[in-house]
Amino acid sequence: MRAAESSNSPTSAGARLIDGVALAKLIRAEVAAEVVALKEAGVTPGLTVVLVGDDAGSAVYVGAKEKASREAGMTGETIRLPASTSQAELLALVEQLNADESVHGVLVQMPLPKHIDPDTVIRHIDPLKDVDGFHPVNVGKLLIGHSDGFAPCTPAGVQRMLVHYGVKTRGADVVVVGRSTIVGKPMAALMVQSGDGADATVTICHSRTRDLAGHTRRADILIVAAGRARMITADMVKPGAVVIDVGMNRIPDASRKSGTRLVGDVDFEGVRQVASLITPVPGGVGPMTIAMLLRNTVRAARRTLPA
Ligand code: GUN
Repeated sequence: MRAAESSNSPTSAGARLIDGVALAKLIRAEVAAEVVALKEAGVTPGLTVVLVGDDAGSAVYVGAKEKASREAGMTGETIRLPASTSQAELLALVEQLNADESVHGVLVQMPLPKHIDPDTVIRHIDPLKDVDGFHPVNVGKLLIGHSDGFAPCTPAGVQRMLVHYGVKTRGADVVVVGRSTIVGKPMAALMVQSGDGADATVTICHSRTRDLAGHTRRADILIVAAGRARMITADMVKPGAVVIDVGMNRIPDASRKSGTRLVGDVDFEGVRQVASLITPVPGGVGPMTIAMLLRNTVRAARRTLPA
């Protein structure tokens, strides 16, 4: 039996949809219950998000992170700094948050203004508070397979989706399209580990890959995080494959009041006819990212409990 077909047979109606909104809600409820228990033990989990500048998209994400952390019963704070903030000022703030015992998770929203080096900032965050999973210590732990680090939220959310929907990953051919540090590379690192929701044979494709379709057509599980609207078409997908679309691209749409519409990296209408299981955009991977961020924050807080 092929890995991806074991629990998800394609039907004439097309692929079954993965409901990221419902799963994220479930995870957020689990997190809220853990927050109650932590509060009883004397610790209120706290997440502080730092936003530098006035990028409209980032402001929306940051607002959603703060709201979600408060809804889960945590302390959710956002520190908004002007775009003119110097790198030294931002590093000083990160160090202050590292030292603050009421803050368990520190997240500096990307992208940063051009005069600030994101790698320098990430390296200043205490790895024990790096709920984004971007610090080299956490990246290294992920690659080694040590479970005491933080995995980046979006790939961790994708893996959780696969587990929740009963997708068999052991021995499956997983093809990841995109090699970003936030999604593609950690996604591959997660899937190649031994254990549940992993044990896969992983290929990473990117902008220099020869014969992309030749790779994607072999995938039992195709995970796309390339940032190009609807680049994966039905002819690039093996019948019965599980397709996870991490893309979020705004394209013109005159029929909408806003004049635009959100689409993924996958041509959803075409690919759903071929795949067995697929994430929509919006409502697929997107909501999982914040849910996993809350989860990482609760883990960071739990670690501060006396043994
Ligand atoms: N910008 C877009 N996505 C993310 C994320 O997951 N974390 C941070 N820090 N910035 C982002």
